[in-house]
Amino acid sequence: MNGSLEAVRVSNHVYWVGAIDWNVRDFHGYSTRRGSTYNAYLVVGDRIALVDTVKRPFLGEMLARVSSVLPPDRIDYVVCNHAEMDHSGSLPEVLAAVGPEQALASKAGVSALQEHFHLDRALAAVSDLGTLDLSGVTLTFVEARMLHWPDSMLTYVAEDKLLLSNDAFGMHLASGERFADQIPEHLLEEEARRYFANILTPFTPLILKLLERVKGLGIPIDTIAPSHGPVWRNPGWIVERYARWSAGEATGKAVVVYDTMWGSTEKLALAIAEGLIAEGVPTKVMSLKANDRSDVVAELMGASAVAIGSPTLNNNVFPTVADLLVYLKGLRPRKLVGAAFGSYGWSGEAPKQIAEALGEMKVEVVGEPLTSKYVPEREALARGVAFGREIAAAVKQKA
Ligand code: FEO
Repeated sequence: MNGSLEAVRVSNHVYWVGAIDWNVRDFHGYSTRRGSTYNAYLVVGDRIALVDTVKRPFLGEMLARVSSVLPPDRIDYVVCNHAEMDHSGSLPEVLAAVGPEQALASKAGVSALQEHFHLDRALAAVSDLGTLDLSGVTLTFVEARMLHWPDSMLTYVAEDKLLLSNDAFGMHLASGERFADQIPEHLLEEEARRYFANILTPFTPLILKLLERVKGLGIPIDTIAPSHGPVWRNPGWIVERYARWSAGEATGKAVVVYDTMWGSTEKLALAIAEGLIAEGVPTKVMSLKANDRSDVVAELMGASAVAIGSPTLNNNVFPTVADLLVYLKGLRPRKLVGAAFGSYGWSGEAPKQIAEALGEMKVEVVGEPLTSKYVPEREALARGVAFGREIAAAVKQKA
């Protein structure tokens, strides 16, 4: 065991025993430019529970942190809040090393974990609002189906008024600090937004329901300890943002995003942006050569309009634009006005394909796609500015 690795006490009975992944840069398509943490928690009563594990390569780090509190073979229960491998990846090794009396998960979690690991021991299914008595500490399980997997659940530690919130209220941020109040607020804001936009956008109606449900349970919550990023000792900050973000705050902002082959589609993008700005619409221009899909999606959270541009390459949209469209479709954007544009040489299918893709996402598409043959000059750029003004009018009409 690495003796330099310590647990961090989070509350009376709860220790953080997770791992810091300083170098992860891709999380199933979401670029985690500041790394992440995999948060496992040790709950210590007379009996001991480990809630979640870590990604498999970090097993040694987690066990070393557990060992700074107690020998791992003293763990009586392993609770799996979530079957995704960043939290369950080392479960088989943990079960072998610890030999707990029981490993528990939600009913869907038991199935998912068996389908992942084909374990040779049975897992116990816990029911919604079921409890586990650790003699002196009680765990209560709250199902959170489809937030963001069918198996997801939260675990509440009543004596410490602490909610182990699984992926909810998390962020991908590797840091030496374990508590949000030790981290600059602008960094929390940026990474919490990126995480929400890239992971939770499709589930916003469920988040609102979960927030209502937890409120309805009347359980006091002083601390929220998520599965990624820092622990919230003042959880009001993040809960208020989740309520706002889930409600789909509309800022009236427009995002013009594009890729360009020889600079012509970029000229159209800038002309459209001029039209939007002239109409007083706060506008951000994003080239896909300088921004990846995660940046764009974070910027789109709360935006009122998106204009997407692409040159036509071999009768298709540019690969980077196709990538963005696929990613965006999966995230199911809401309440957006959309527009398509692009320069072309001879066939010019891309803008139409973008408009169709936006339509399939139920984005309200403005007008006909704006196109220009080869390099746009005065007339085409004027049409670009006019298109920007038309998008601005659609935004204002929707406000
Ligand atoms: Fe952090 Fe859905 O796993």
